[in-house]
Amino acid sequence: MIRLCEPDISDAEFQAVYEVLKTGYLVQGARVRELEEKIEKYLHVQHAIAVSNGTAALHLALIALKIGPGDEVIVPDFSFPATANVVELVGATPIFIDINLETFNIDTEKIEAKISKNTKAIIPVHEFGLAANLDAINEICEKYDLKIIEDAACALGTCYHKEFVGTKGDIGCFSLHPRKAITTGEGGIIATNKSEIASKLKILRNHGMYVKDNSIDFVLAGFNYRMTDIQGALGNTQMDKLDSIINRRRELANLYFEGLSCNNNLLLPGMSRDNGHTYQTYYVILNRKLNRDSVMRELREQGIECNYGAYPLHSLSYYKQKYSYDASEFMNSLFAFGQGIALPLHSRLSDTDIEYVIDKVNLLTQ
Ligand SMILES: Cc1ncc(COP(=O)(O)O)c(C=O)c1O
Repeated sequence: MIRLCEPDISDAEFQAVYEVLKTGYLVQGARVRELEEKIEKYLHVQHAIAVSNGTAALHLALIALKIGPGDEVIVPDFSFPATANVVELVGATPIFIDINLETFNIDTEKIEAKISKNTKAIIPVHEFGLAANLDAINEICEKYDLKIIEDAACALGTCYHKEFVGTKGDIGCFSLHPRKAITTGEGGIIATNKSEIASKLKILRNHGMYVKDNSIDFVLAGFNYRMTDIQGALGNTQMDKLDSIINRRRELANLYFEGLSCNNNLLLPGMSRDNGHTYQTYYVILNRKLNRDSVMRELREQGIECNYGAYPLHSLSYYKQKYSYDASEFMNSLFAFGQGIALPLHSRLSDTDIEYVIDKVNLLTQ
């Protein structure tokens, strides 16, 4: 089976985890701090805060920015449910916006019409590793005094105008789940240049604990969203490989572009002008006349693992039952889901693997 995704784990990771296990010190400690420092240096950001997963990162970001009941937060309709779930979890309301089919990212032209006096923030998602239109989003946020929480769960290393995403808004959130370029098993990183917010995030991830002059106090109702040192060690070795993993992903994505661009029944993913795309997922959309599910089934039968990429959030049972939406507002998101397929892409695949996938996809869809 050609796997959809596979973490790049080698002896260095085994050794790093083994060393932590030998110390008997397993909870958040020196290895987690080391990982945070590496990411701060890599992203050129003042604070990187490790947490237990990407959802926890987004959840804390909203709390740190004081977003809560009565507030509205703008999110793209096509994403992983966590992007909207965290908004619900703080008691605020997600306002869904359709996507642009060329990028699979939020259609920034449709945002202003949905801004109300209750709107407090926008969560742009850098879907599948391609940067959202941050210039347009910044402009809107400045005009209406809104916060930006970048959902960069799939986009560690992605660039926008040659700068890393996740560092341009008030807060950026990354996931280190095994479906991402690098992994800690489960894990998340919150990035911010705002020291006050960083201090609050550190308190919130650790039960609300605040230590001053060697004395402990609990100043907020916090969570246990800490990362373990086992994960920290894993993340440290993974960070050393990040650039080579991204380069390999770009090479393989280019093979897909070369092999699939002559297929008129496929819409291929957008390419960023400055080569900033990190291809967390290579997502193609089939012509309406093709049946996505049967193509997916046949690819699996040929030994090719493939899957959905993201979901039209307004159509998920929880959201549909709680709010009433006009589905015609989300035609691109519905189309991207209904006809889309995520194809295998990870750094352990060979050129021959990708050529095999290209042959089968072309055979089944042309
Ligand atoms: C866009 C997006 N946001 C948030 C998350 C949540 O990250 P995690 O699985 O680390 O909680 C994901 C996970 O796939 C995601 O794709």
